[in-house]
Parts: sequence; structure tokens; C-alpha cells
Amino acid sequence: MLHKPVSEIFPQIPSDINISEFDETNIPRHVGIIMDGNGRWAQKRLLNRLKGHAAGVAAVRESIRAASDCGVEFLTIYSFSTENWKRPKAEVAGLMDLLANTMLAELHDLFEEGIRVKAIGDLSILPDKTRDAFNHAWDVTKNNHGMTIFIAINYGSRQEILHATQEYARIYAQAYKENAFMQELTEEVFSKYLYTAGAPDVDLVIRTSGEYRISNFLLWQIAYAELYITDVLWPDFNRYEMLRAFLSYQKRNRRFGDVHS
Ligand code: IPE
Ligand code: IPE
Ligand code: MG
Repeated sequence: MLHKPVSEIFPQIPSDINISEFDETNIPRHVGIIMDGNGRWAQKRLLNRLKGHAAGVAAVRESIRAASDCGVEFLTIYSFSTENWKRPKAEVAGLMDLLANTMLAELHDLFEEGIRVKAIGDLSILPDKTRDAFNHAWDVTKNNHGMTIFIAINYGSRQEILHATQEYARIYAQAYKENAFMQELTEEVFSKYLYTAGAPDVDLVIRTSGEYRISNFLLWQIAYAELYITDVLWPDFNRYEMLRAFLSYQKRNRRFGDVHS
């Protein structure tokens, strides 16, 4: 359900979007975004890659607002993968700094809007400043009631699945020792050991910059997600690009293995 009228969320709809096709009752509950193309955006302008990452912050801000206003319940944003440590030291350091500074700068507004912000991934090896900023954000926003944003940092889906398995084994061993009751390991129980515990599966994955791959993002949670890939580079992404993704999503026939309805 939309939280604001369409005309307020999307005040200047590009002429090639047919807004009458927009179904306010069919909004994805959980959206995952692989924001990609910051480097190419900067390269095209002969700028340092970090300028591309900085330019991407506005797109994040706008996407969060559009998603929240449209009634998306969970938004997972892929910000730094377990593979991104391979990048040049200066870029990694710049990204870690940008993440921390942006989180601190945006926290007040996010809190006021009722949004919950939680970092997911292995935070243990992040620079203190980055880890502290996100731990603080979760402390401040966890009792809010609006959209939940998962910011994936040092996140890799294989790492997450291993971590969940290790956690289950650890708790199982403890329960065994204490002769305590242990729930049978079903898909539903296993999901509770993932970083996204409590969130429904992802309905829609958006990837920018025209790359047709998943890059170790939410492998378990996207089992039946619809995929939307756009050539737009992340810093050029905005609420209208989000609207295009929603319109595309609404045209899909989600069968979940059943027959055509
Ligand atoms: C996405 O943009 C941001 C991160 C992965 C942190 P890239 O930095 O991957 O941009 P390209 O793919 O090099 O253009
Ligand atoms: C995926 O983008 C990771 C994030 C968006 C954080 P990459 O640019 O790192 O992915 P690959 O290397 O093109 O697969
Ligand atoms: Mg990339």
C-alpha cells in the first residue's frame, strides 16, 4: 500500500512511463538492489572512481524514499561484497569512509521517517568507524516501525550460508549437551539463522549497469525473486527508474512452480 499519493511520490513522471499501468496494490514486499556502475559513471567523466561512489549516495537516498513511500517493507542494498576487498587499497578505504560518513549524516532523517537500518554481513573486520556507525544506526532505529533497510557490507551469500550453518551447529551442540529441545532443521528454521532473519524472501532484485549476474548476493533469499536489470549506471538511478522496475515487476506472472494462473 502506498504511504503517499502517486503524484507526491512521482511528481514529474517521464513521458515514456504510463502511470495508469501502476498497480498500487502490487508492490514487492522485499526489494534487493545490486547497485553497480559507479566506477564506469566516474570513468566516463574522467573522474576518480571514488567520485562515482560519492555520486551514488544521492541515488541511494532517493531509492530509499521511493521504496518507503510505495510501502516496500524490506530493502536490501548491496554496498560492499566479500569480494570487493580485492580492489585497490585507496578505493576500499574510501568506500569504508563513505559508508560510515553517509550513515552518520543520514541517520537523523531516517530515524524521523520511522526507518530501521541494519547492516548485514561480517562486520567484524570492518574499520572501527564503519562498524560503529552501523551498530549505532541499528541501536537508534531498531524500535522504529517503518521500512527495514539491510545494508550489506562485507556481505557474501556463501559466507552468510556458512555462518548460518555454523550458528545452527553451535546451538545444536549446546542443546544436545543440555538435553534441550531443538527444532528440526526446515527451510523456515534455517532462514532464521541468516542475516535477514524475520524478513520475507526477496520479491524483486534490481541490478544497474547492465550486468547479468548475481555476484554472491542473497542466494537463498532470491530463490523465486523476479530480476530487473537496467543499463542505467547507479549514480543515475532515481525514483523513476525504481518506478520502471516496479512496473516491470507487476507485469510478471509469478508461478512459483505452479501452473499458469
Ligand atoms: C558499485 O559500483 C559499487 C560497489 C561495488 C561498491 P562499481 O564500483 O562496481 O562500478 P563499476 O562496476 O566498476 O562501474
Ligand atoms: C557487486 O558489484 C557488489 C556490490 C554492488 C557491492 P561488483 O561490481 O563488485 O560485482 P562484479 O565484480 O561485477 O560481479
Ligand atoms: Mg561493478
